[in-house]
Amino acid sequence: MAEPTRGGDLPGEPTSLWLASTHDDDPEPEPLETDHTVDVAVIGAGIAGLSTAINLRERGQTVTVLERDRVATGVTGKTTAKLTSQHGTIYDHLRREFGRRKASQYASVQEASIDEVERRIDELDIDCGFERQPSYLYSNEPDEIERETDAARAAGLEASYVTSVPPFERAAAAVRFDDQAWFHPRKYLLAIADELRDDDGASLHEETRVTDLEPGTPCRVRTERATVTARNVVLATGFPILDRAGYFARMHPKRSYVLGIRLDGAPPEGMYYRSGNNYRSVRTHRDEDGELLLVGGENHKTGQGGSTAERYRRLETWARERFSVDEIAYRWSTQDYKPVDKVPFIGRAGAGTENVFVATGFRGWGMTNGTAAGRLLAAEIDGERPAALDLFDPLRLTPKASFGKTVTENADAASEFTTDWVRALLTPDRSSLDPGEGKIVREGGKPIACARDAEGDVHAVSAVCSHMYCLVEWNDAEESWDCPCHGSRFDPDGEVLEGPANEDLPARDRP
Ligand SMILES: Cc1cc2nc3c(=O)[nH]c(=O)nc-3n(C[C@H](O)[C@H](O)[C@H](O)COP(=O)(O)OP(=O)(O)OC[C@H]3O[C@@H](n4cnc5c(N)ncnc54)[C@H](O)[C@@H]3O)c2cc1C
Ligand code: FES
Repeated sequence: MAEPTRGGDLPGEPTSLWLASTHDDDPEPEPLETDHTVDVAVIGAGIAGLSTAINLRERGQTVTVLERDRVATGVTGKTTAKLTSQHGTIYDHLRREFGRRKASQYASVQEASIDEVERRIDELDIDCGFERQPSYLYSNEPDEIERETDAARAAGLEASYVTSVPPFERAAAAVRFDDQAWFHPRKYLLAIADELRDDDGASLHEETRVTDLEPGTPCRVRTERATVTARNVVLATGFPILDRAGYFARMHPKRSYVLGIRLDGAPPEGMYYRSGNNYRSVRTHRDEDGELLLVGGENHKTGQGGSTAERYRRLETWARERFSVDEIAYRWSTQDYKPVDKVPFIGRAGAGTENVFVATGFRGWGMTNGTAAGRLLAAEIDGERPAALDLFDPLRLTPKASFGKTVTENADAASEFTTDWVRALLTPDRSSLDPGEGKIVREGGKPIACARDAEGDVHAVSAVCSHMYCLVEWNDAEESWDCPCHGSRFDPDGEVLEGPANEDLPARDRP
């Protein structure tokens, strides 16, 4: 199972609501043991990978899904699962930077994804709490909301400008989208996984890590025990495990935090999102155990920004100031990748990789974008050329929309690289470690990442990220080593939790 969220004295069970409520629904995993050949190998069983696999099966292609962990235990198992075409102030941005036609294309792709999920839920009779609900983007800057309302309408969406946002009286204005939806993403995807398991043209191998991909005609996908030969490969691994197009320089990881809260009284209907850098996201979830309010926010670049435990505390304070909190039931955290021009990468992965496709860079909006990736990539692989793929083309050049951000983000990664190395080499740090604490110490000129667990044992691994050699930083809430350059994460024993790194940190002798 995916790593639990830890972190000392923080309130709430350290796991996502989605994982906690489906723990007993996972069948025995069937790791890949033997070589075989298929039309398409899909790597990653989050919403993008499973949506791709089910769409490919509907088109008659044979499919194998390879998943390092269990189904929907990555970002998809820790999302807030709003299924919306409202994605912050995206339409104003798209209209300005990409033009009106592409803004409309983006809007209709997202709306089609909500409909697709609803259709599949009906067809497969999935009990996953899908409900149509309005979604509000609120702000204290009415001008910003007016522009977004206007751009969303111009993109063909039914958006309305409102000045009353009941749970957030202090908000000056909001744009309201009707007929959006929320659901339980893991229940939805476990049902799709079952469908694939029961299908002779598909196979699903969990606990199977892809270690290498050799592009070609056909492609070879190597795992720890066997190899899959496939005409086409879809990388739905979050950050692509094969980077032939410099994705590390064109998108950056943003981590954020979620609390699952029981209230005294009924939680609000509708979904809410406060725009701006320090966003807040609010929705309700209902199940047989009652109702929970999900509150998300406190985002920051992975591996940067100080104590992560403090972020949970700030989120709790914010929630208590606005709602009558009875109990914090769950807390969790995860990260998504933000492209410099704010548009996901869906399509051919890069030069020299004709038969390899990617789906990534969903910018915190992967429920609809991941569903769309599945629909569009399956059509492309099946020989159609969906027009929307031009918008999402991973090899697009959008200097107007991306130049400034590309420069600042890469300068930031370079600066992290230099300052962290200098700090590590200059600090003769041999101070003691408390349980739950991690530090980088120097041993024979080499930086070693040491962490002490709750039992008092010290774990020591190389502090040099296996992706591009930045130095990792300790994450105190999750008790992990996080890389400030491009967001790879490792557990205290060095095992990769999140890419772009695909190799573990080697163990070191305890200094
Ligand atoms: C806090 C937070 C809240 C969010 N809330 C929303 C929301 O309300 N609405 C919305 O639309 N979006 C939301 N998002 C974004 C959304 O959750 C993600 O965009 C989406 O889940 C990404 O899906 P995915 O399939 O690309 O990735 P994942 O779900 O991470 O799937 C990738 C899979 O690939 C596997 N993998 C990786 N490497 C390998 C390998 N080498 N071999 C085999 N398998 C591998 C991983 O184990 C993982 O299971 C949120 C994001 C965050 C961070
Ligand atoms: S993630 Fe790129 S150097 Fe660590």
